[in-house]
Amino acid sequence: MTTGSDYHAPVLLHDCVDALRIREGGIYVDVTFGGGGHSKAILEKLDPSGSLVAFDRDRDAWKNAPKDDRFTLVRADFRWLKNHLRFLKKLPIDGLLADLGVSSHQFDTGDRGFSFRFDGPLDMRMDHRAKRSASQLLRDLDEAALTDVLRKYGEVDGAHRVAWQLVKANAETRIGTTFQLVEALKPVTPRAKESTFLAQVFQALRIAVNDELSSLEALLTQSAEVIAPGGQLVVMSYHSLEDRLVKNWMRSGDLGGEETKDVFGNRTRPFNPSSNKAIQPTDLEITKNPRARSARLRIATRT
Ligand SMILES: C[S@@+](CC[C@H](N)C(=O)[O-])C[C@H]1O[C@@H](n2cnc3c(N)ncnc32)[C@H](O)[C@@H]1O
Repeated sequence: MTTGSDYHAPVLLHDCVDALRIREGGIYVDVTFGGGGHSKAILEKLDPSGSLVAFDRDRDAWKNAPKDDRFTLVRADFRWLKNHLRFLKKLPIDGLLADLGVSSHQFDTGDRGFSFRFDGPLDMRMDHRAKRSASQLLRDLDEAALTDVLRKYGEVDGAHRVAWQLVKANAETRIGTTFQLVEALKPVTPRAKESTFLAQVFQALRIAVNDELSSLEALLTQSAEVIAPGGQLVVMSYHSLEDRLVKNWMRSGDLGGEETKDVFGNRTRPFNPSSNKAIQPTDLEITKNPRARSARLRIATRT
């Protein structure tokens, strides 16, 4: 079992922790605990009266939890943020960090089924308690629904043709492993862009299996209810669909980016973004950790 930075190298570590503007005795939440790299850095800034609540729905991550009286790990989807914080009597909070997506450990563990580079069951569930694996999803979706998933979550070119091919292949022989999926995709895989194409298809299925955008929407909406005025919302995303939701929410308090107004027509928004531009890792960080390359960090203060 890998731990710490072998499990996952935290991306934009100092920017994320600085963005939280940590008060030593404050209450902070890391909704994507993973290898605990960001959480560890947050704990280092807290005094004995401060506290950190972390969430992760992957049981592999639970083994990384530090033994620290100031730390609580919630083994659940962060879509239930507000309920858990209320139950733990940790409301309101001073800052929230989300480092979205999957950890390196999840990608690099073949039998989790997240990567087209390793053979393993076509699973992709972050939470082993969830009912539907990627293999089951492929069986459940018809051609139209699968086209939608590939187009929306993977921005796959020719999504309809790819969906048609997958439905056909799955009807002949059930696609149960990652390499069977790669094989089934062969007739529609562009030769010059094989890795990009496979990454897009795997990403699309992963997002659908874990219902990632709906969890993010719930998290953003609840952030306005749980963060105290003056507190920080810090979100790092790895693809444009997530980043768009985060940007819209921070700018306007609406996931679709519509301006919200009160009854007098005054603009209301729960957050003030620190900048319109996202922070990106430096070339040096990307050289050391190529997985950081698509990270986009956005920061906002609760009004
Ligand atoms: C990119 S990793 C976070 C890495 C972490 N910041 C670190 O320094 O090691 C994302 C983690 O969030 C978890 N995760 C993703 N979506 C989640 C959700 N909706 N609810 C709870 N955990 C989630 C994943 O299981 C994964 O462990």
